[in-house]
Amino acid sequence: MDNIVKVGLLGLGTVGSGVFKTLSNFDNVEVTKISVSNINKKRNIEGLSQEILTTDSMSIVNNSDIDIIVEVIGGINPAFDLITTAIKNKKHIVTANKELIAKHGEEIFELAKKFNVSVLYEAAVAGGIPIIMPIKMALAGNKISKIAGILNGTTNFILTKMTNEKADFEPILKEAQELGYAEADPTGDIQGYDAAYKIAILASLAFGKRIDSSLIYREGIDNISAVDIEYADDMGYKIKLIALAQITENDKVDVRVHPMFVSKKLPIAYIDGVLNAIYLKGHPVGEVMFSGPGAGEFPTASSVVGDILALAEEIPYTDNPLPMLKCKHEEKAEQLDIKHTENKYYIRVSAQNTPGVIGDLGCICGRNKINLSSIFQKGILADGSARVVLLTEPSKEEAVQKAVEEMNAHSQVKQVMNVIRVMD
Ligand code: HSE
Repeated sequence: MDNIVKVGLLGLGTVGSGVFKTLSNFDNVEVTKISVSNINKKRNIEGLSQEILTTDSMSIVNNSDIDIIVEVIGGINPAFDLITTAIKNKKHIVTANKELIAKHGEEIFELAKKFNVSVLYEAAVAGGIPIIMPIKMALAGNKISKIAGILNGTTNFILTKMTNEKADFEPILKEAQELGYAEADPTGDIQGYDAAYKIAILASLAFGKRIDSSLIYREGIDNISAVDIEYADDMGYKIKLIALAQITENDKVDVRVHPMFVSKKLPIAYIDGVLNAIYLKGHPVGEVMFSGPGAGEFPTASSVVGDILALAEEIPYTDNPLPMLKCKHEEKAEQLDIKHTENKYYIRVSAQNTPGVIGDLGCICGRNKINLSSIFQKGILADGSARVVLLTEPSKEEAVQKAVEEMNAHSQVKQVMNVIRVMD
């Protein structure tokens, strides 16, 4: 065989275009076919021949000339069928599809094992940041105990802008949509689904156990307001959407996505705008942090092309390329329910401005064995109500939920406005 490896590209949107343009710099790889949804769309891509375009993705995965299928369509359908068909045709896979890997990784990796092909997905988590290959190779000698990531650029952009402009969520979301930083339907990003798929992938690699992404506790950022950000700032924190994965003492896996007060003493607090970051703690390495662009045409193409070139170096010489990058774990993780976790909490309460309210809030915490590190009220609001803020020591989630219920039932409490976990 000649040493030119043939690639079939499924999708020529933002990422697909970046992949095609970047691959044109390498002469050991040839893009043989590309599937698109509209063949007549005007495309301004140098070196792109109309002849290699098709609307028939299935013909690409069934094409016997092609060695590697690169899937950058996203979503489950038809990506799942295309990838599984390609694997059965003994093609290696490179994909940027976090939802597919998070939800169907198990079936895909088992099939890949059966047909002895590789499935690489560096671009599926944190776009241009190398993290999959580092965990599987450079950090392979570690026992990883914790990952904390800012894995969604859209929400990080919105929270950063809310912080800088002292603004509420809704107007900033609208602005982000107008600027093209947030999608018309922003649910996947705002509600933390995107980050949950990514942390499911990272946690399963880091802990060597399969994570069920549907069991990941998830809260979005739509309940964060300018006052929460102001209080956070006053107390030495920034608010970030954190994707967290940690191993508990009894070997359970605690995986979740929710906003957090992040201490300004931690480097991850300074990852702003659309940037992503992954903090990782392991032994023997200690603590490391990776940061960079988590999305976009060329950053994502960088990861996709890295995977393609890694395969292209080996495919001409071996039937078992990149064995360290293959999925080796099959055991399912025992995932910890959020109610059994322990965290520090910020609790913001809207109450009537009457004597004894702060005392009663403190008593509710005490009765529920919640140790407070701080409780305060900043003056009285224009409507005559009091805004009371509580900060707790590490406390059981279950106890905090019960205390919040009791606070909401208190006759002088209007509402518990927000509860945000704290990372020091
Ligand atoms: N929508 C994601 C983000 C990028 O905002 O970071 C692709 O996963």
